[in-house]
Amino acid sequence: MLQELKNYLLFLKDYGYTEIPQQIELNLSPPKKTSKTHTSPSKQNNPDLLQAVQDELGDCTRCKLSEGRNKIVFGSGNPNADLVFVGEGPGKDEDEQGFPFVGRAGKKLTEIIEKGMGLNREQDTYICNIVKCRPPGNRDPEAEEISACKPFLLKQLEVIRPKVIVALGKPASSTLLGRSVPITKERGTWHEFEGIKLMLTFHPAYLLRFYTVENRKAVHEDMKKVLEVLGK
Ligand code: URA
Repeated sequence: MLQELKNYLLFLKDYGYTEIPQQIELNLSPPKKTSKTHTSPSKQNNPDLLQAVQDELGDCTRCKLSEGRNKIVFGSGNPNADLVFVGEGPGKDEDEQGFPFVGRAGKKLTEIIEKGMGLNREQDTYICNIVKCRPPGNRDPEAEEISACKPFLLKQLEVIRPKVIVALGKPASSTLLGRSVPITKERGTWHEFEGIKLMLTFHPAYLLRFYTVENRKAVHEDMKKVLEVLGK
């Protein structure tokens, strides 16, 4: 609770508030007993706060990926989710539709979430990427593109403050940990991002490309660990 409160205050400061708005004061009351579907009082403002982050991103031209994009892919899902997946960047389908993971890799991710973990993608998770615009030809995002976009990812994670973040693949893992992550070696291991538990796993596109029993089992094991921490 105190950590969440600190994050809200820092967030308000970042957004130029000099006083605590009325709505936020509600958050200071002691947490009520929560039911499964109840939104924690300290998270009531998350949709608005996330919208503020998206507004700040605006019609972004901070890096050259803006030149070739159709739509910015900010993120989708539940702003109060306990679980956030972070991918690499939009592909062709995502760029056309404006939503993350809606193509082939997206179908795989949805299958992992819904069939594998027994969760509902829209209600139980939030999904975003380290860069919000499509890298041409689906190349890896470059360092300067990642650094232009990273502040927005950090703000998304700061607002949502899930119980668990899952980094999908090497670029997402490396971006969140600030070092080059050998994903085949480190997948399945727990890390920490700003006090939030961080699990590293294979990107669903990698899984589709190397569709072996071993790789599928690996992701299954990683998601089992995530469910344990979520208490599911
Ligand atoms: N791959 C990603 O990393 N993100 C998407 O949104 C789609 C495919």
